[in-house]
Amino acid sequence: MSGGLGGSLPIAASEVAHSWDLLYYFLFAICGFFFVLVCGAMIVFAIRYRAKPGIQASYITHNDKLEIVWTIIPTILVMIIFVWGWIVYSGMGLNRPTDAMEVKVLAKQWNWTFQYDDGRTMMGEFVVPVNKPVKLVMTSNIKDVLHSFFLPNFRLKKDVVPGMFTSLWIKPTIIGTHQVFCAEYCGTDHSNMLAKMHVVSDEDWQKWRWGGTVAFGPNIGIVGDPIVETSVPLAGTAGKSNVMLADEGKKLTQTKGCIACHSDDGSARIGPSYKGIFGHEVELVGGVKVVVDENYIRESVMTPQAKIVKGFETMIMPPYAGQISDSEMIAIIEYIKSVK
Ligand code: CUA
Repeated sequence: MSGGLGGSLPIAASEVAHSWDLLYYFLFAICGFFFVLVCGAMIVFAIRYRAKPGIQASYITHNDKLEIVWTIIPTILVMIIFVWGWIVYSGMGLNRPTDAMEVKVLAKQWNWTFQYDDGRTMMGEFVVPVNKPVKLVMTSNIKDVLHSFFLPNFRLKKDVVPGMFTSLWIKPTIIGTHQVFCAEYCGTDHSNMLAKMHVVSDEDWQKWRWGGTVAFGPNIGIVGDPIVETSVPLAGTAGKSNVMLADEGKKLTQTKGCIACHSDDGSARIGPSYKGIFGHEVELVGGVKVVVDENYIRESVMTPQAKIVKGFETMIMPPYAGQISDSEMIAIIEYIKSVK
């Protein structure tokens, strides 16, 4: 399905986008209906009940029946909009598939960098397989500004915040090249902060992943002329010459001295072990429980005193803020994720 009511919507390239569109059409229909109803009644009443000589206007205080009707109907309508909206929103964010492939997204003034688990990076474009869930883990440098990752064909937009990880998940259903915008004013070149998402067939994905060249599908909703592009083979080949992100992270925990205090086999050292913590809860001093996710790890590295794990109250870890770059942080997180 392409175009919306009078072409008001771009192509819907995922199931989430389709469910979003249905809700949009429903809202559009309600607005249209009430616009006609209210304006129609206004015109009819203005003509019909206009002041006429010799006719005295009657004084009306209220009308119970009418007031009940115009309270109940809008209440039902807004409840439908709320529940429906909640369901669509849950599909976008809450019911995230756990088996999703991850792509890291780094935003800076004024470009997008995409990084894969095998360490390969692309600037201004990235490639994903069709019909597979993909999770985008996004961040912006602490010294940079706020950006917003916007995929119109997917009806998805999420802020990319300095010093914080946010995520989005997509399951593209249409092969081709989709436009990515920055949707948060971020300075001079904000409007040129564009990227392309190439959705390829499963076959092409395997080929591309292992270093082959594939033809990307046609541009869908891309600014400018529709052209078919061919991929440029990336420097480095998946699984061969490249360093896996998690391996790079492991190396960093050695060079940065983390392993002096943190083990990866579950054994207790001065600090908590990395083993099996990602995605699980840890108990903090004071009894509060938090889930170990990207943001928790970043915070615990940058400002270790912010959240102290129960049993490690007396151990003082120096803050690493300013000593670890974004890409190093991502690699370290990837490593901790991999220690199961
Ligand atoms: Cu980045 Cu606007």
